[in-house]
Amino acid sequence: MTDEFEPNILAFCCNWCSYAGADLAGVSRFQYPPNIRIIRVMCSGRVEPAFILEALKDGADGVLITGCHIGDCHYIDGNRNAEVRINNTIDALKYLGLDGRLRLEWVSASEGARFAEVVSEFTEEIRKLGPNPLKET
Ligand code: FES
Repeated sequence: MTDEFEPNILAFCCNWCSYAGADLAGVSRFQYPPNIRIIRVMCSGRVEPAFILEALKDGADGVLITGCHIGDCHYIDGNRNAEVRINNTIDALKYLGLDGRLRLEWVSASEGARFAEVVSEFTEEIRKLGPNPLKET
């Protein structure tokens, strides 16, 4: 058994592109860290800041939001709305000492390798940040 910190990461993946990209990563057997738990949402625009804050409050070390590329959202502007909302949430988290723990990425259904890469990168970033400080209080 090792004492190395293993991040718990919660990912919200849009049904139409990113979740399919995650599925493709699995089917294609692309390697990525097993630190992620996925919640499928219909669109990245469905993810409210309250969901993110709740996840961090409940001990997630990082939260990843993935959606269709800009121009590909099945609800037209859902991902553009998500971009504004998530970027505002990223800024707000800086004031809470949670800088770097939220990330937004676009991953299409054909980008299984990209999904694996994004998860690997984010897991390493969170590993460097250490455990969510809210967990310690
Ligand atoms: Fe995928 Fe909107 S349907 S981001």
